[in-house]
Amino acid sequence: MNIFDENDQRNHPRPEDTDFAKLVDGVLSRRQLLGFTSTGLGLFFAGQDLAHAAKAVADNGPRIGFTPIAANSLDTVTVPAGYQWRVLASWGDAILPGGTAFDHATRGTSTSQSLSIGDNNDGMSFFSLGADRGVMAVNNEYANYEHLFVNGRCNSIEDARKAQAAHGVSIFEVRRNNGIWQLQAQARLNRRITANTEMRLSGPAAGSAWVRTQADPTGTVVLGTFNNCANGRTPWGTYLTCEENFNGYFGSADSLPDNPAFKRYGISAKGAGLNWHPFDGRFDLAKNPNEPNRFGWVVEIDPMDPTSTPIKRTALGRFKHENAEVVVNADGRVVVYMGDDEKGEHIYKFVSAKKFDPKNASANRDLLDEGTLYVARFTTAEGKAYGEGEWLALTHGQNGLTAEAGFKDQADVLVHTRLAATVVGATTMDRPEWIAAHPSRAQVYVTLTNNSDRGLKANQAVNGPNPRAKNVYGQIVRWTPSGNDHTSNQFTWDIFALAGNPTLHKDAYAGSANITPDNMFNSPDGLAFDQDGRLWIQTDGDYSNAKEFAGMGNNQMLCANAVTGEIKRFMVGPVACEITGIAFTPDRKTMFVGIQHPGEKLVPSHFPQGGDAVPRSSIVAISRRDGGVVGT
Ligand code: FEO
Ligand code: CA
Ligand code: CA
Repeated sequence: MNIFDENDQRNHPRPEDTDFAKLVDGVLSRRQLLGFTSTGLGLFFAGQDLAHAAKAVADNGPRIGFTPIAANSLDTVTVPAGYQWRVLASWGDAILPGGTAFDHATRGTSTSQSLSIGDNNDGMSFFSLGADRGVMAVNNEYANYEHLFVNGRCNSIEDARKAQAAHGVSIFEVRRNNGIWQLQAQARLNRRITANTEMRLSGPAAGSAWVRTQADPTGTVVLGTFNNCANGRTPWGTYLTCEENFNGYFGSADSLPDNPAFKRYGISAKGAGLNWHPFDGRFDLAKNPNEPNRFGWVVEIDPMDPTSTPIKRTALGRFKHENAEVVVNADGRVVVYMGDDEKGEHIYKFVSAKKFDPKNASANRDLLDEGTLYVARFTTAEGKAYGEGEWLALTHGQNGLTAEAGFKDQADVLVHTRLAATVVGATTMDRPEWIAAHPSRAQVYVTLTNNSDRGLKANQAVNGPNPRAKNVYGQIVRWTPSGNDHTSNQFTWDIFALAGNPTLHKDAYAGSANITPDNMFNSPDGLAFDQDGRLWIQTDGDYSNAKEFAGMGNNQMLCANAVTGEIKRFMVGPVACEITGIAFTPDRKTMFVGIQHPGEKLVPSHFPQGGDAVPRSSIVAISRRDGGVVGT
């Protein structure tokens, strides 16, 4: 699994809460736990809850028209009969003038890397430029030092600059020739955004004391973005890239004063071993204690203007952002759903103050600067795997977010979103990853990837949407906003799928009724709907194919019918990769899928080139041999 997540979860677990927070969480959890134990957790695996959720829906959902494939542990991509795949682009492919072909012996320099696609492609979006042309915006989440550097380490400013250039976002044009989508090196819109690209901070926290530094006394000009996990796209044509495990990039040789906010965000002198701080003082916490406050945001980028300045939208909160799922509500306000991927963290939504204007693109430019951020609290019907929930506003002066509680203004609330969420009583979740909204129904799904601390830590008691202690498999939870209104403060929820291993277990760890020996998987992560309402599920889990995970094979992608709960395996990735990132062409005849970190931790992989080649994160294009629409 993603080594960055894994190390961070181990080194920087969510700290114990204040007494007040414990009280709020404890009361909730105890009530929910009683509900389950009085009737037995096993009850809801009989399928009653899928039936409960499906009742209101007349149709049977979209047809899933491929023959599912078996799990495997091969060092290649496997797709169903009648489908084909090919590599669109890989880490190190040159996209800017002066770029050079990937060098397997040296893995390039800081300069060549800055002119080429970054490492570890993650979330991505396709923006159409016509029937056979488009521009892809792709996150480059982190760098696999074991492959980026011949000796596996960052030992100099040149190394640090190379690693920084391997992060960020790659934007490049693609063109379809004879049915095959190809990367267009040196096209007009091609661009690299790295950990050193100048960007602007906007919204309520911009300019506040928390984000001012010696180099930027205005608190509005930031260099770079990194650990860009998943993404979003707006109806006004911009790309959203989400900063996740930003904390580990900072460190110091000096010891640091005790700082509860640093603790909650996992920021420490030790860092995550990236080793930028000895060579680039910006990342030394003793020298620049406010620099980490300038990361952990959602960044908006215009992919159609390579000279545009990316903008960090502080109104959307600061946490370890996974993706940003944008919905235009019936009344025109824009709602952005977001997960904070850490054990025991939360689910958020932002509701814009103003309305989206489809006729006036420039009027939408700053919609994400003004609005209300909310965090979710789930309650559970007694003995059931469903219940209700509410969105709690993270607005200064409301819900206990006062000066006495440590929040003097809205900038305080936003820079320390996690601390504010605890004060208002948000529900602790099993690592919220991607959130996906149904294309035609007011229904929203979230992957809760896993949580080894669930049921073991005082602040993470078992609760309704997170019903299993030591949750190694993960689950997909969904909710429907009250009145089908995404701006409503109320919702109902249920569990769409509990991943598990039905060949090993008979209890809750076997998974829900729609998990079988033929489709089982662990650690759902990437999640997206296609236009017909097929739900595509990508995994970032344990690929050992042994013990708890026997029979699951390599990381994979599945396709689900959101109405019936049916789940079929569509794709299996190569050795030691994670499947993450998904984009469709408008005709939906091609689906782009991300293969991240094949061969991580030096597990032997030579994907995609084979032979003795260095394994390279890649984007693959999947299509039907008969030219039909993918998935149908
Ligand atoms: Fe970058 Fe939570 O995965
Ligand atoms: Ca992820
Ligand atoms: Ca993950």
